[in-house]
Amino acid sequence: MTAFMPVTDKVIEDLCAIVGPHNVSVDEEKRLAYSRDEVGVQFWDRQYCADVVVFPESTEHVSRIMAYANDKVIPVTPRGAGTGLSGGAVPAFGGIIMSFEKMNRILELDLENLTVTVEPGVVTSEIQSVAMKHSLQYAGDPCSGDASFIGGNVAENAGGNKVIKYGTTGANVLGLEVVLPSGEITWFGGKRRKDVTGLDLVHLMVGSEGTLGVVTKIILKLVPLQERIVDLLVPFEKVEDAISFVPKVITEAKIVPVALEFMDRRALKIVSRYLGSSLPFDDAGAHLIIQLEGNDPEVLADEYEKVGDMCLESGALEVFVADNRNFREKLWKARKGIAEAVMAFYTKYAKEDISVPIKEVPALIKAVDEVCRKWDLEAANYGHAGDGNVHINLLAGEDRVDWHEAIEGARIDLYEVTKKLGGTLSGEHGIGLKRKKYIGMFLDEAQIRLIKGIKQVFDPKGILNPGKLVE
Ligand code: MLT
Ligand code: ZN
Repeated sequence: MTAFMPVTDKVIEDLCAIVGPHNVSVDEEKRLAYSRDEVGVQFWDRQYCADVVVFPESTEHVSRIMAYANDKVIPVTPRGAGTGLSGGAVPAFGGIIMSFEKMNRILELDLENLTVTVEPGVVTSEIQSVAMKHSLQYAGDPCSGDASFIGGNVAENAGGNKVIKYGTTGANVLGLEVVLPSGEITWFGGKRRKDVTGLDLVHLMVGSEGTLGVVTKIILKLVPLQERIVDLLVPFEKVEDAISFVPKVITEAKIVPVALEFMDRRALKIVSRYLGSSLPFDDAGAHLIIQLEGNDPEVLADEYEKVGDMCLESGALEVFVADNRNFREKLWKARKGIAEAVMAFYTKYAKEDISVPIKEVPALIKAVDEVCRKWDLEAANYGHAGDGNVHINLLAGEDRVDWHEAIEGARIDLYEVTKKLGGTLSGEHGIGLKRKKYIGMFLDEAQIRLIKGIKQVFDPKGILNPGKLVE
C-alpha cells in the first residue's frame, strides 16, 4: 500500500489556489459530514475522516486537483450525495474528499439523438423531470433518486426499480468524460449507440466505485415516456407463492413489466410503523408491486387484467389496481421507505444486497429462513424480485449481546448459499469498505489479479479512492 503524504497547511494553501478558498473546507464538522454515507455507524468513525473537502466547479478544477494530488501522493475520494450503502465514498485514508455538488449542471438535452449530457452532481430525479417535459424519460431509477447524484449512480452502477425493463445505470450511459488520476482529461464513448472501436472503457468505469478515474461529464440515453402507468399491488398469503409467481409475468404472460418488486410481511410492518400508515392486507406473507406502462389504454388494461388474473390463480389474496396518483405514491412510498425504516428502528442489523438468477429467488428466501433459525435472528426481505436482487436485512434484537457474532455467522452462511445458487455479493449497492473482506468468496484469483492490474494501469500511485474493492 502506498505511503501517503499528509495534508499540511501548504497543501491547503495550494488547493485554495486551484479552486479558490471558498471551495475548500477544513472545518471539522464539515469534514466528518462529508466523510460519511448511508452505510451505517461502523464507518462513522473519526478514523474515516478526510483532512480537507474540496468543491470543484469544472473539469479543469478536477484535473488540476488530481494532477496535484498525484504529484504529492495524497489520497482523493470522490463523493456524490452521500446516499451510498457500501462506504464507497468514505475516505479510508483521510486526504481529500472531492464533492461534486457544485458541478450540477444539465449541459445539453439533445432531442434528435435522444441524449442528455450532465455533470456528476446533478440529482438523479432532476434529470428525470427535465426529460419528462419533452415526453422522454431517463430510465435509471434508484430508490434514493430524489437525493442521489448521477455521478454516484454511475460510480456504483446503481440499479433500482426499473432494471427489469431498462437495465442498470450502466445500460443507460453512452459516454463519459473522465479525469484520470494523473490529471489527464479523456472521453470514453459518446452520443453513438454502437461502438466497438477499442475496449468498452465506458462500462469499465461504470461501477468502478471511483477507483479508476473521476467522471466529470455523463451522456445518458433517453427513451420515450409512456403515457400511462399502472401499478398492481398484490398481497399473497405465502411469501413462496409471491416469489414463485415473479418469473411467470415474463415467461407466461409474455409481458416485461417496468418494475416487479416485493416486500415480505416484516418489511411491510417495519415501514408501516415508520410511516404511520399501512397498505391493505398488511398481515399477508408478502406483497408484490407490478408496474406496467403503455401508450394505448386498452392494451394496457388487457395486460394488467391478464397479469391480475394470473396472480389470483397463483394464490394472490387480492389484486389492487393503482391507476391513480395517490394510491401509486402511497405504495411506492412504502416500498422505497423500507431501508430508512430499518435504520430508524434497528441498530443491530445487516443490510444485504444479494443478487441471484431470477429462478433462484425462492431458494434464496428459503435459505434465509434456515439461516435465521440457526442464528436466532429475524429477517426483513424486500427488493427487486423481478431482476433477482434481494435486500435481505438480518435483524437482531436490541438486547442481543452476541449480535455481532450471530449476524456475521448468518452472513457467511448466506453468502455460501448465494454462491451455490450462482449469485453474487452485491447487485447494486457496491463493495466499498463494507463488503471488501468478503469479495474473495465470490471472485477467484484470476479476477482479483486482473482488477488489481487494471487499477495499477489507471492509478499507478494508488491515490484515487484507496482501500476499496480488492485493495
Ligand atoms: C432499495 O431497494 O430500497 C434500496 O436499494 C435501498 C436498500 O434496500 O437498502
Ligand atoms: Zn435496491
